[in-house]
Amino acid sequence: MAKITVSTLAKMKRENNKITSLTAYDASFAKLFHDCGVDVLLVGDSLGMVLQGNDDTLAVTTDEVAYHTKCVRAGSKDVFVIADMPFMSYSNVQTSCENAAKLMRAGANMVKLEGGDWLYDSIKALTQQGIPVCGHLGLTPQSVHVFGGFKIQGRDDDKANKMVEDAKALEAAGAQLLVIECIPSALAKRITEAVSIPVIGIGAGKDTDGQILVMHDLVGISAGYIPKFSKNFLLETGNMHDAVKKYCDDVKAGLFPTNEHEFN
Ligand code: KIV
Repeated sequence: MAKITVSTLAKMKRENNKITSLTAYDASFAKLFHDCGVDVLLVGDSLGMVLQGNDDTLAVTTDEVAYHTKCVRAGSKDVFVIADMPFMSYSNVQTSCENAAKLMRAGANMVKLEGGDWLYDSIKALTQQGIPVCGHLGLTPQSVHVFGGFKIQGRDDDKANKMVEDAKALEAAGAQLLVIECIPSALAKRITEAVSIPVIGIGAGKDTDGQILVMHDLVGISAGYIPKFSKNFLLETGNMHDAVKKYCDDVKAGLFPTNEHEFN
């Protein structure tokens, strides 16, 4: 599989070729996902929940994400890897740069930060220093206590309009990719059309430039329950390789997600 870069992802948006993405935390799964044709791997701070068994992502540290980034990079030298910047690891420009550098040195191709226009200066500084940035809007899990739970975001007009403006601000600051999580599909479509950078959705309907899932959700082994926006691809395929392939094929063909996985 050809090496994916930020230019490849930008071209995929222009050509309406859907981007496939999964979280990964170790070398074995990174290799399998890459072999199955997944375009982008995210070393998500979801590791705090699916690997460490916590109720949220807040306890995850930059060193832990760096460790898992090293593992994922060891699994495939060609895969495009995004590493999550954990809670409070980007609270000011200096901290952002120091922690992002750790993740890049561990093997990431890009770092992901949760939040809107208040990140402008940090994103500008990171990109000026050669660190590609992915933004993350909507249900940003590091703000779970501000939201009062893992709740759909952007349902009222003011919040929806603000999210569109935030997406534009992130792009203006230099972000080259955007993840939007658990928002109404119509809003996801608006955001995807409002920016020229690729937008990857999770619980954001079918009209984004690509899809991402937490790998444990894709195979139905997340602690507790399968979120409405996800699907257990292992059930219909019976093995991990075919489950990942089916996910990629369905995303590329516009067959996943369907109405049953989206929010209004
Ligand atoms: O941490 C994570 O896995 C994420 C995805 C849910 C997008 O941020």
